[in-house]
Amino acid sequence: MSLDRNESIEEYILSHIDEESDLLKQLNRDAHVNLLKPRMLSGHLQGKMLQMFCRMMQPKYILEIGTYTAYATLCLAEGATDDAEIHTVEVNDELEDFIMKYLHQTKLKDKIHLHIGDAMEIIPQIDRIFDLVFIDANKRHYIEYYNLIFDKVRSGGLIIADNTLWDGHVLEKPKPSDKQTIGIQLFNDMIAKDDRVEKVILPVRDGLTLIWKK
Ligand SMILES: C[S@@+](CC[C@H](N)C(=O)[O-])C[C@H]1O[C@@H](n2cnc3c(N)ncnc32)[C@H](O)[C@@H]1O
Repeated sequence: MSLDRNESIEEYILSHIDEESDLLKQLNRDAHVNLLKPRMLSGHLQGKMLQMFCRMMQPKYILEIGTYTAYATLCLAEGATDDAEIHTVEVNDELEDFIMKYLHQTKLKDKIHLHIGDAMEIIPQIDRIFDLVFIDANKRHYIEYYNLIFDKVRSGGLIIADNTLWDGHVLEKPKPSDKQTIGIQLFNDMIAKDDRVEKVILPVRDGLTLIWKK
């Protein structure tokens, strides 16, 4: 599909699904004005999908690796039941004020536990078995995140990995210095061979892999 047609399809989808909440619209605008790399936030379509996965699965314990603005965190929390616990980990402490500004505006914050620090250090300290994990941090380290969380996901639990098509770069032979593309390619190859899980890649936005633990 051409770029114009892709954009038209996305516009069409957005005009035929539930509207983004006022809070998420405000957060989105604020991120575009005040933060670096605002494209990193999930956005309405992907956020709505994450919300829908929570509605369908009703996970009690959720982990997000890579909070950024908490856009996706709020979507997960919106879809989750009242007694759900959402743990989200962000290494960049400069984002904490931005995140808290939005969490404080909604009762959803009661379900959300923000951990500031490196996911590799924080996750082993969270004493939970997760029903749903959203991997969305440093593309160089997806394999490490996956290996770290695998035993902390229940059988029948879902792992969702974002950016697994990496703007189409997965099709290319990357330069040795392009560690992000290499990281995603190695992750995708590893998941493809992992027979402990069922998997599918959805070509939504930048690629979303759903990995279901048998
Ligand atoms: C793509 S953004 C997350 C977007 C967010 N999940 C969403 O969907 O709106 C990636 C975030 O991961 C964070 N990050 C990178 N490495 C990390 C690590 N080792 N531990 C925790 N967070 C990390 C980055 O600082 C960045 O804010």
